[in-house]
Amino acid sequence: MSTTGAATGHDEFERHSRRVLWALPTGLYLVGSRFEEAANLMTANLVVQVCLQPKLVAVALEAGSVTAGLVAKGRAFSLSLLARGDRDVVRRFVKPVVDIGRDPEGVITSMAGHAVLEAGPHRLPILTAATSHVICALTEQHALGSHSLCIGEVVEVGGEPADVLRMEDTRMHYGG
Ligand SMILES: Cc1cc2nc3c(=O)[nH]c(=O)nc-3n(C[C@H](O)[C@H](O)[C@H](O)COP(=O)(O)O)c2cc1C
Repeated sequence: MSTTGAATGHDEFERHSRRVLWALPTGLYLVGSRFEEAANLMTANLVVQVCLQPKLVAVALEAGSVTAGLVAKGRAFSLSLLARGDRDVVRRFVKPVVDIGRDPEGVITSMAGHAVLEAGPHRLPILTAATSHVICALTEQHALGSHSLCIGEVVEVGGEPADVLRMEDTRMHYGG
């Protein structure tokens, strides 16, 4: 049975479309961002490869989020791919990170109590426990509405593919 805004009203359409859109399978990642000494790691599922040649990855970021601002200024983002058992980690990164540990040289070593490494030419934060990571140089950023679409070219990968964390491993939803 289908629901449309015209047929049953806006609220029912909102509820129905949210439930259907939640059924789209997605992974759960940490998006790393940095501008000068400001850095963040943020839980995100709206992440997908969108071009093979060149290799482009898109991330949808909440307009006004700390991450969207840092990506715009730093012109790059990282993705930390998480092990399937690491669902508690993503709960720690749904607010801007305030607790950033640094070594005596100022290199970031932890965020929100989790060990972090700096990776790639932009020194973007990635989770040390990530199974693998992707570093993208920003090529385009489009304001869509609630979110801005950030597209980046893959400039570095690390680690090995593994069985990675996905939305259905949690009780969380996002999108819809
Ligand atoms: C399961 C889950 C998935 C999320 N996916 C996204 C996402 O794809 N894009 C996004 O901007 N925020 C997403 N969020 C919200 C962010 O983690 C974060 O709360 C918000 O964007 C603020 O980001 P900031 O720390 O950069 O200010 C998600 C949150 C949860 C709990």
